[in-house]
Amino acid sequence: MFESRRVAALAAEEAARFTAEHPVSAAHAGRLAAHWLNGVPMHWMRDWGTPFPPILREATGAQITDVDGCRYADFCLGDTGAMFGHSPPAVAQAVALQAARGLTAMLPGERAAEVGEGLARLFGLPFWQMTQTATDANRAALRWARAITRRAQTLVFRGCYHGTVDEIMLRPGGIGTAIDVRASALAVEFDDLAGVEAALRTGDIAALLYEPVMTNAGMVLPQPGLHVALRDLTRRHGALLIVDETHTLSSGPGGYTRAHGLEPDLLVCGKAIAGGVPCAVYGFTAEVEARMRGVLAARHEEHGHTGMGTTLAANPLALAALAAALASLHTPETYAPMLAGAAALDAKLQALLARRRLDWHVARVGARLEIGYDKRPRNGTQAAAGMLPALEHAVHLYLLNRGCLLTPFHNMMLYSPVSAADDAERLVVALDACLGEIA
Ligand SMILES: Cc1ncc(COP(=O)(O)O)c(C=O)c1O
Repeated sequence: MFESRRVAALAAEEAARFTAEHPVSAAHAGRLAAHWLNGVPMHWMRDWGTPFPPILREATGAQITDVDGCRYADFCLGDTGAMFGHSPPAVAQAVALQAARGLTAMLPGERAAEVGEGLARLFGLPFWQMTQTATDANRAALRWARAITRRAQTLVFRGCYHGTVDEIMLRPGGIGTAIDVRASALAVEFDDLAGVEAALRTGDIAALLYEPVMTNAGMVLPQPGLHVALRDLTRRHGALLIVDETHTLSSGPGGYTRAHGLEPDLLVCGKAIAGGVPCAVYGFTAEVEARMRGVLAARHEEHGHTGMGTTLAANPLALAALAAALASLHTPETYAPMLAGAAALDAKLQALLARRRLDWHVARVGARLEIGYDKRPRNGTQAAAGMLPALEHAVHLYLLNRGCLLTPFHNMMLYSPVSAADDAERLVVALDACLGEIA
């Protein structure tokens, strides 16, 4: 449909335009290269597809401004960390107040009781633990699952991503892995219930860890009845069901679990849970909590040494942010404009695809949308086969140069409570113009 030479030519034109419009960012990039690996504080910050990254000056609401004074309507929103908008006022205030009253102390803060109650109300699970990142929360949830069940393996869906959790990193591209992941994890397709059952029947699976909608392989929506079947199968075969809500929190207050009545044994959520302050949580049922206490009681060593960390987890700053987020962000009032705005953007994108007679699709889970360059995939392998990296690269650059940020290595858009309908319209117009240029 799109000639690859034209796509490459557009990408080159857009890269040149970006360079011409970003002299200050270019100067920063020169200095950064001297002391940061890959020229950035985190090596994947180069993955925006621009010749060098636009250097952030400020992120407020759903807007980003770079050091060149370019303004962007931000639909990436820190790949979900800023799903409720950048620096939500209630969270920013709570952090500022707490910052002067202690940052880290290894003691439960005075807000811990209120936060535990709030998490239990929000997600419907009675017991909780905090970590710094969703990666850490998944690691801990899996450790507990193995300890409780005395089984070694984790079942995941092919194409999944749950953070840099070594023992389930079946994706290609991992650097320096110390273990043979095939011994600790098994992957089946998202639409393969027979495969799930066969894996569970081995008796080696401690837990099935999954996102209720796959959001890291394009976006793959579940087949009807999947969640009920997974709950039933895991129960029948004595494996724990862990739902990773880190991205599907976009569904509504309490995530996909609340919106669709899932019954996980454990639930993990990070990124936006505390409004963008480093913080993640995992929750579990009373039965799982009793089994965890059983594991702890059977040990003879000191209590602290469980292999689960980390020193800064559950610090007062994160607790303050989480308390503010629970009170002011995880509410129906906050979600109403997110869900309505995302639905409107969804309709506009669908209309654009129809008008341009493109056999693509738009998938959506609440406030989170993704364009796929194919018909709706049913699993991670189909989603990967439908990807067009060169086209995606050109489109991202074109949109970025017109003031619209999409998530790198995704066609993902998030609609925050403070996103503007005008910006969504601008995004659709720019995408239309881009497709017109390539066609
Ligand atoms: C579903 C899911 N879970 C967990 C994580 C890990 O989050 P973090 O990188 O904040 O640890 C990610 C990251 O993209 C994710 O997409």
